[in-house]
Amino acid sequence: MRFSDDFLAELRSRTDIEELIGRYVEIRHRGSRTPVALCPFHSEKTPSFVIYRDTQSYYCFGCGAGGDAITFIKNIERLDYTDSVRFLCERAGLAMPLDPVDDEINRLRRRCYEANREAARFFHAYLYSPEAQQARAYLDKRRLAPETVKSFGLGFAPAKWDALIKHLKEKGYNEAELVSFDLAKRTSKGSVIDAFRNRLMFPIIDLRGNVIAFGGRVLDDSKPKYLNTSDTVVYKKSQALYALNFAKNNRERKLILCEGYMDVIAMHQAGFTNAVAGLGTAFTKEQVSLLSRYCDELTLCFDSDEAGKKATKRALSMLSSSPMKLKVMHLQDGKDPDEIIKTQGKEKMNKIISSAVNDTEFALNDSRSRFDISTEDGKLGFLNEAVAVLAAVENAIERDLYVSKLAEELNVQKSAIEQQIKKQRRFMKKAHDSAQFDAAMKTVLGDDKISSPNPEKKSNVRAVKAEEVILASLLKHPDYLKKLKGILEADVFVTEFGRRYFEDISSRIQSGRSLDLVSFNEDAENEEMAYLAYLNAKISELANSVEECKQCINTLIEEKAKKNAPDVGKLSNEEYRDLFRKKREKKKPEGV
Ligand code: UTP
Ligand code: MN
Repeated sequence: MRFSDDFLAELRSRTDIEELIGRYVEIRHRGSRTPVALCPFHSEKTPSFVIYRDTQSYYCFGCGAGGDAITFIKNIERLDYTDSVRFLCERAGLAMPLDPVDDEINRLRRRCYEANREAARFFHAYLYSPEAQQARAYLDKRRLAPETVKSFGLGFAPAKWDALIKHLKEKGYNEAELVSFDLAKRTSKGSVIDAFRNRLMFPIIDLRGNVIAFGGRVLDDSKPKYLNTSDTVVYKKSQALYALNFAKNNRERKLILCEGYMDVIAMHQAGFTNAVAGLGTAFTKEQVSLLSRYCDELTLCFDSDEAGKKATKRALSMLSSSPMKLKVMHLQDGKDPDEIIKTQGKEKMNKIISSAVNDTEFALNDSRSRFDISTEDGKLGFLNEAVAVLAAVENAIERDLYVSKLAEELNVQKSAIEQQIKKQRRFMKKAHDSAQFDAAMKTVLGDDKISSPNPEKKSNVRAVKAEEVILASLLKHPDYLKKLKGILEADVFVTEFGRRYFEDISSRIQSGRSLDLVSFNEDAENEEMAYLAYLNAKISELANSVEECKQCINTLIEEKAKKNAPDVGKLSNEEYRDLFRKKREKKKPEGV
C-alpha cells in the first residue's frame, strides 16, 4: 500500500525513534547527541548501534543494519511494510489511511499476477497436448509422478516463437505489458517473441499463492540449462524461495535448503515436504530473514562438489547471526538429492538427513579434510584451525564435548587444547570489543574511516568517498542539485551503486518529493535503507558546502579518467592511432 508524503511526515513527527528503539534495547547516553545501544540485529558486547535524532534514523557500524522507524519495526517485528506502518500508527494514535491508494504500480502488479497465472495454466495444459509428447517422456525419465507434476503446476512452453503471446493477447494483454512481465522479449528488430520456448516450465509461487515467476529447463543438454524470469514488479529473485509456499506449513519449523528446482520436487515427492531452494542466485540476507519466519532449524543440502562446498560456507557465514539452528548434510556417492533418491531410494535420503552435522562439525570436517593428519605437521595444522573454530562456539558444554573428541582423535592432552582455545577467545574478545568500540567512536567523533556498504569500495576508495560526500550533501541540501547543475550528472559517478542512489535522490528532488528516510521506505530494500541511514550518519562529518561537492566532482572525473585510461602498451598500432583521433575529435567545439 502506498501512503502520501504528508501522511508519512505526520507519522514521522509523531514517532520518536529513540523512544521506539528504547522499548526493545537499552539505550546508553539517552538524550545525548548520539545515543548508542547494543545492536538488536546481531550479537555484540560493545554498542555499535547509533541513533540519530535529527534524521530520525539508526545505523549499526557492526552489522550494517540501518534505516528509519519503519525499517526498524519491519526488521524487529518481522512485519511487511504496510503492517509496520499500521503498527506505528497504532502506537502513535494515528488513523491508518482507509482505502489503499489504487495507483499504477498496484494495478500493474495485479495485471502481472493474472498474466502469470494465465501463462502457468497455458503451459500446464500444453503439457498434455500431442505436441508435448517429448516433454512428458522427459518427466517420466526423471521419475516425476503425475500428481507431482500437477501439484507443482509444471508445464511445457511450445517450441514456437509466439504461442504464449498470441494466447495472452487474446486474453487482453498487450505487448508492452508482456515484455515488462518478462513473459516476452523484444528482439533487436522490434518484434516480440515468447521468453520461454521449448522448455519444461516451473512456476514459482509466493506465500499467498500468486504465480510470480518461472524457471524453464531445456529437455536436452543445450545451454543455458535453465532460463529464469528476471526481476519484475512482482518478483525479486533475491527475495524468493522455491516451494516455500508448500514447505512453510510444516509444523516442526524445520526446513531443508536445496540447490535446485528438481531437487526440491524430488524431495517433496519422496515425502520430505519441507524442502525449498534458492532461485539461481547466491543465498541472500533477505532469504535468511524470510526463512527464519518459518524455520527454527535449517539444514543445508548442497552438492558434494567443490562449488557446493563453497556455497555451503558462504551460506553459513550469511546465516551466522540468525537465530536458526544450522545443519549441513553430506551427500556422498551422488551429486544431488534428486539423484540420490532416484538411485538409492528415499530411505537412504532419510539416513543422510538424520546424519546431518551442525555447523561446528561441518567446519571441523572441512578443515580436517585439508590436512593429512597422519603426519605431525598435518596434525598441527588441523589443530590450529580447529582451535579457531571451537573458540567461536559460545556454549561451554558444547565446546568441552568437541575438545574431548579432538583430544582423543589426535592423541593430545585435552588441557593443552583448552588452553589454546582460552587464549584464542581472550584475543577474539579483545579484537571484537575494540573493533566495535572503534566503529561506534568513529561515528561519534566523525572519523571518515568508517566502512561503506558500497560493494565497489575496495577498488575505488577515493571515488566512493567522493560519491558519498555528494550524496550525503544532497540529502541535507537538496538545493545543491540546482547549484551544481551542468556539472553534476549521473555520468559523473564512478560506481554503479553511487549512480543508482544519485538517480534516485535527484529524481526525488526534481519532482519535489521528500528526502526523509520515511518516504524512501516503501520502495527500498532493507539494504538500501541501511545505506541511506549510513549517508545520514555521514552528514555530521561534512563541511556541507557547494565547494566541497565541486571538489568531489573533480575527484570523480579524475578517478573515472584513470579507470578508463587504456593500457597503451597493449594496443595495436591501429588502436593507438584511433586513440589520438578520438582525442582530437573530442577537442573540436560542438557542431563543427
Ligand atoms: P543444477 O545445474 O544443479 O540443476 O542447478 P538441477 O536443479 O540439478 O537440475 P537438473 O537435475 O540438471 O535438471 C541448480 C539450480 O541453479 C539454477 C536453477 O535454479 C537450478 O535449479 N540454474 C542452473 C540456473 O538458474 N540456470 C542454469 O543455467 C543452471
Ligand atoms: Mn540435478
